[in-house]
Amino acid sequence: MTTRTTTLIKHTLAVAIAAALPLIAGAAEAPMPWMNRALSAGQRATLVLKEMTQEEKLQWVYGYFGSDFAPKKTIKIAAALPSSAGYIPGVARLGLPELFETDAGLGVASQASANPRERTSLPSGLATAATWNPKLAYQGGAMIGAEARASGFNVMLAGGVNLMRDPRNGRNFEYAGEDPLLSGIMVGQAVKGIQSNHLISTVKHYALNNQETGRNELDARIGDVAARTSDLLAMQLVIEQGDPGSVMCAYNRVNGPYACENAWLLNEVLKQDWGFKGYVMSDWGAVHSTVASANNGLDQQSGSEFDKSPYFAGALEEAVKTGSVAQSRFDNMVYRILYAMFDKGVVDHPVKPDGAIDFAAHGLISRTDAEESMVLLKNDGQVLPLRKDVKTIAVIGGYADQGVLSGGGSSQVYPIGGSAVKGLLPASWPGPVVYHPSAPVKEIAALAPGAKVVFDSGADPARAAQLAASADAVIVFGTHWIGEANDALDLALPDKQDELIAAVAAANPRTVVVLETSGPVLMPWLGKTAAVLQAWYPGTRGGEAIARVLFGDVNPSGHLPATFPASLSQLPRPVLDGDPAKPQMQFKVDYHEGAAVGYKWFDLKKHKPLFPFGHGLSYTRFEYSALAGGYKDGQLQVRFKVSNTGKVAGKDVAQLYVSPLGARWEAPKRLAGWDKVDLQPGETREVTLTVEPRMLAVLHGPSKTWRIAKGKYTLLLAQDAGGTGESSITVDLPARKLDLHGKAVPSTGKR
Ligand code: GLC
Repeated sequence: MTTRTTTLIKHTLAVAIAAALPLIAGAAEAPMPWMNRALSAGQRATLVLKEMTQEEKLQWVYGYFGSDFAPKKTIKIAAALPSSAGYIPGVARLGLPELFETDAGLGVASQASANPRERTSLPSGLATAATWNPKLAYQGGAMIGAEARASGFNVMLAGGVNLMRDPRNGRNFEYAGEDPLLSGIMVGQAVKGIQSNHLISTVKHYALNNQETGRNELDARIGDVAARTSDLLAMQLVIEQGDPGSVMCAYNRVNGPYACENAWLLNEVLKQDWGFKGYVMSDWGAVHSTVASANNGLDQQSGSEFDKSPYFAGALEEAVKTGSVAQSRFDNMVYRILYAMFDKGVVDHPVKPDGAIDFAAHGLISRTDAEESMVLLKNDGQVLPLRKDVKTIAVIGGYADQGVLSGGGSSQVYPIGGSAVKGLLPASWPGPVVYHPSAPVKEIAALAPGAKVVFDSGADPARAAQLAASADAVIVFGTHWIGEANDALDLALPDKQDELIAAVAAANPRTVVVLETSGPVLMPWLGKTAAVLQAWYPGTRGGEAIARVLFGDVNPSGHLPATFPASLSQLPRPVLDGDPAKPQMQFKVDYHEGAAVGYKWFDLKKHKPLFPFGHGLSYTRFEYSALAGGYKDGQLQVRFKVSNTGKVAGKDVAQLYVSPLGARWEAPKRLAGWDKVDLQPGETREVTLTVEPRMLAVLHGPSKTWRIAKGKYTLLLAQDAGGTGESSITVDLPARKLDLHGKAVPSTGKR
């Protein structure tokens, strides 16, 4: 009998006995001082750890996949919730609940299965980032966390924040774009929202998991300072903003060792430098050793069926016996898990499945997020917003008569009633392709009841063009499905959609394109179309959101969280490394751009993108004035005024970029802050921003301190990284030294 089976049977028996204990008549209620909520999470974890047997401790570091299609599924974990991501048995004897794990950042996902649970889906993570509205990120997190709790889950595997180093990455839709400040703050607020439901959330995938091709074996090469100024900074900001109970280490290698046995990433950066108190869980199939993993900082093996061996089962017990893993380290692994359980309220607020869910209210939260995420990329001749008294509206392509697209893989949330479009390939994981049943055609017709709305699938461009030629308004959809474990081979819309859009635009110059894509795409037809609205994967009520923006019921206020390149040749790696046909091949990805990710790279190389980071038009206009900057209480404060000079209310995202005139940074400028301002026509608002000091500094690796160089800096207030609508001033900053958390370090006079 294999070790794993033995372990499992022991676990199952332990769970059964422990559950039976309290029922035994007269079982004395042993005192449980760790249940005293007046004590700190650390105190409670320490107290209960002392009571545990070695067997009980082992339970916590070894997780099972919660679904029934794992590659080496031997024994079904009866206690796991169906179609779930993971399960860890609890210790009922000590009042410690089981851990039920679900994916992920867009809502309560289901692993592909015949009867997935049906829940509310937020728009994509990239869409929420495009709102530049941290409050919406929090609200969305709070909503999906509530659905996770009501579904019986107390761990949500959310917090995806890998930077968009490559627009082809198949999981860009789960993340928050290319800038560490924007990503860190937006995902940090989402994590905070999730955990407001007394759940543990994660931040993932730690770290440098910036492409899917060869994700299990690629070796990401990057310098310490460059990593801590980019991908690691984003994750650090999520931890500072959202305080996730757990960090999920990634599949890939980083500078040699696998991320889940990487002492630099786990012990040095995360636990020592950042002081992270929670626990490190592995990704599902990301563990490659027992002793190295345990000693280098991994605390829990997740989804053990996906690994080559049950590293943290009997083998770990043996390693502790022989001393190759110290008992103190083993205790610390368990302590960290218990700490997170107490700290996030998992122990004090037990979950139970079948809680009530207010799907109407939750759908509205998702729609509000989607509406604010949509980016008006182009609007020549103010063809948008559409008039509601038009006679005929042609709607073409994108299954717009049935629903809106979503991305595939472990983050897939299944809609109530199932996918609106069935049978699209790939049928197997990371498929099936799921459309949320919120049909743009239906919602457009509802907002323009007097119009004749005609839908054409777009299968025949000539037929679609004929329909377009005679319509007053034309909306053609461009869709691009992608899913986990895959990268796009290029940035073109698939299935000849570029031809379709070009044919429709040639027939009617007032053509409006609506994109439902994971992220950036190329637009060879751009010059022929009047307007382009980036709707991303817009979630459960995305069709309504699209219609409300098209007709101006909502003034678009989304701004790009990632650069849209004009061609692949502009990227640091025009050709993706690795070979999709050889997922086990080992290869290096040289992140030679270092921290110059996205617009920073484009600035460095003086590339002109198709659309710059931060770009987004409105149905009104905004102007900036009275820009001023000064040091107050050791912080750079920037004040300015935003005016709505147009005819309709709208929200502007005023972006503050900083550019050093003396110091040398990784790129000419950095985003150093922003504010989203909601203004009535003619209204002016004064805004004050306090700049995150690390955005002004260079990390000094050996001392692990951030240094702001004395000298002049240009403050650029703009509507995008291309400098649209900018006003700028120069400020003088004194030299300052900061610790890794951005707190002032008293200068000792030494360098
Ligand atoms: C997946 C993903 C991770 C997810 C986990 C559980 O492979 O990489 O994001 O949370 O496994 O489904």
